[in-house]
Amino acid sequence: MSGANASRGRFITLEGVDGAGKSTHVGWIAERIRSRGQEVVVTREPGGTPLGEQLRKLVLGEAMHIDTETLLMFAARREHLEQVIQPALQAGKWVISDRFTDATFAYQGGGRQMAAARIAILEDWVQGAFQPDLTFVFDVPTDVAAGRRGGREPASPGAASASDRFERENLAFFERVRDGYLRRAAQFPRRMKVINANRALESIQKELEEYLVVS
Ligand code: TYD
Repeated sequence: MSGANASRGRFITLEGVDGAGKSTHVGWIAERIRSRGQEVVVTREPGGTPLGEQLRKLVLGEAMHIDTETLLMFAARREHLEQVIQPALQAGKWVISDRFTDATFAYQGGGRQMAAARIAILEDWVQGAFQPDLTFVFDVPTDVAAGRRGGREPASPGAASASDRFERENLAFFERVRDGYLRRAAQFPRRMKVINANRALESIQKELEEYLVVS
C-alpha cells in the first residue's frame, strides 16, 4: 500500500452503518492476519484508550451540539493515535480499528449534515496526512441494517440498552450516513473498498481475503 514500508505495520479500518455486520468481521480479519505470523492490535472508535472510552460513553449517551459531538470524536481520536495506533504501527504490528475518521465524515458529515470542509480541518489538525492503509466499507440497504439493529439484545442481563443515541436515529439519517460512506469511497477508491455485506458470510470473507492477500 502507498506510503508503507516493510518495517511498519498496516492500519486497517472497518466502516459501515450500524447493523451492516462490521463487528462480525473484525475478529475474522484479525485471525487471518495473525495466521500469517503478524502481531495484531484490535481496537475501536470512539474509544480505544481509557479516556477515549469515557468520551465514548458521553458522546453515545448525552444530547449535545453537533460541533461538540464532532470535537469529542476527534479528541478521542487524538488520544487513540498517540497511545495505541502510532506506537503499534511503529513496532511493526498491524492495527485493525472498528471505525476511524471516515465515520466522522459519514455520521457527522452525512448523517448530521456538517460541512465536510469543517471536518477536514479537524482531520488535518489531529492526523495531518495520516490515513489508514486499507478501509472496508460494509454496505447494506438501509432497511436491512435497520432489521439487524432491531434484533440486538443487551450483552448481558442488567447491561445498558443495546441502542445508543445514533442507533435511535431514523431511516433518513442512516440513508445519509450510507451515502456519506459511498461518496467518500468514490473519492478514495484505492484505500476504501466497498463490500456488499448483504450476502452470505463466506462470500464476504472470500472477497476480504482477496484484498488482504495483496496488502
Ligand atoms: P459502533 O462501535 O459501531 O457501535 P456498536 O458498539 O453499537 O456496534 O459505533 C458507535 C457509534 O458511534 C456509531 O453509531 C457511529 C458513531 N460514530 C460517529 O458518529 N462518528 C465517529 O467519528 C465514530 C468513530 C463513530
